[in-house]
Amino acid sequence: MILASVADFRAAAKRRLPRFLFEYIDGGSYAEVTLKRNIADLEAVALRQLVLRDFADMDLSTELFGQMAALPVALGPVGLAGMYARRGERQAARAAESAGVPFTLSTMAACGLAEVAKATTKPFWFQLYATKDRDFLRGMLAQARGLGCPVLVFTVDLPIPGTRYRDQHTGLSGAQTWRTSLKRFAQAATRPGWAWDVGIHGRPHTIGNVAPLMPPGAGIADFLGWSRDNFDHTLTWDTIGFIREQWPGPIVLKGILDPEDARRAVDLGVEGIVVSNHGGRQLDGVLSSARALPAIADAVGGQTTILADSGVRSGLDVVRMLALGADAVMLGRAWAYALAADGEAGVRRMLELIEAEMRVAMALTGVTRISQIDKTCLAGEYR
Ligand SMILES: Cc1cc2nc3c(=O)[nH]c(=O)nc-3n(C[C@H](O)[C@H](O)[C@H](O)COP(=O)(O)O)c2cc1C
Repeated sequence: MILASVADFRAAAKRRLPRFLFEYIDGGSYAEVTLKRNIADLEAVALRQLVLRDFADMDLSTELFGQMAALPVALGPVGLAGMYARRGERQAARAAESAGVPFTLSTMAACGLAEVAKATTKPFWFQLYATKDRDFLRGMLAQARGLGCPVLVFTVDLPIPGTRYRDQHTGLSGAQTWRTSLKRFAQAATRPGWAWDVGIHGRPHTIGNVAPLMPPGAGIADFLGWSRDNFDHTLTWDTIGFIREQWPGPIVLKGILDPEDARRAVDLGVEGIVVSNHGGRQLDGVLSSARALPAIADAVGGQTTILADSGVRSGLDVVRMLALGADAVMLGRAWAYALAADGEAGVRRMLELIEAEMRVAMALTGVTRISQIDKTCLAGEYR
């Protein structure tokens, strides 16, 4: 079947992955109220159609932290991507590289920093979860710096993981016993393509960057419990000073959802923020990013680079986020589904779809440059 949309990639990912992995990607926390809001609120944003505007000279490129990107889009940090396709982070990073957009490697990636650096020729961004062990954290940041990662995305909305019922049902989270292992094994057995490609040939199944901190023999099913016990619960705004000492380059705070926090981030001089509720995977019931973004853009627009994520499933959604006040957008599930569906080629194709959809949206809202996308591209009550 031709994969013509992110929804098609999602369906293909569901066919290919064992249930515990598909539900891990697809699900959100608690009743998934925010997960649903992210998509519904963004879809509801009306664009203003303007016709008969010459769009022959269209340019979708934009500058992000001193580097040009072909699109105002980055692949955001997604943990465990090496379980969705064989050595998945390497494949996704290469796809981003050929599309000319940044790739962000998660702290909780299966492939570690050095492995991804070996597989790519351009620098990629690194996302940090702060571990309690500060020496380890210093070492990880020094490694990222040494490998030339230009941008540090510091995720601040997951000092403790939200409960995701779907992961408990599939046996991915909760107390790990022989029963949960058997359950996952049975799910994997129904997906022989995945079992051969990733289950057998995609080893080691560890969390590359933090494997040295985890108990010997720990696998992917141990990571949720491990992160609850090993992520730093004492983080405050003062921690930014500590991170700044370790990281001379741009710092982007991911997980900002309120103008008060956005102002604080700007006061501390961070180079960027990501307006995000972690794709509805953390505090359920909070505002969607689409609803939170305009007030944040009013508060700090022009003073820091504003990225936004959560709910972006198309090029139209990218244009909507920019019109609501973002400078660029991060993709999460969109690339995870594409990677699971068809590896590097899938992620490349998904980015082509996003670009094609953006071109149509821009042509019919009367803009030809990313910098021209603003509130005036919105219609009705969204203006
Ligand atoms: C499977 C999965 C794993 C994720 N892992 C991380 C992670 O390791 N670090 C992080 O900062 N955000 C992580 N996120 C959140 C994404 O970076 C992003 O904020 C979210 O997916 C955006 O929502 P969307 O997928 O609905 O677009 C993850 C999201 C998903 C779906």
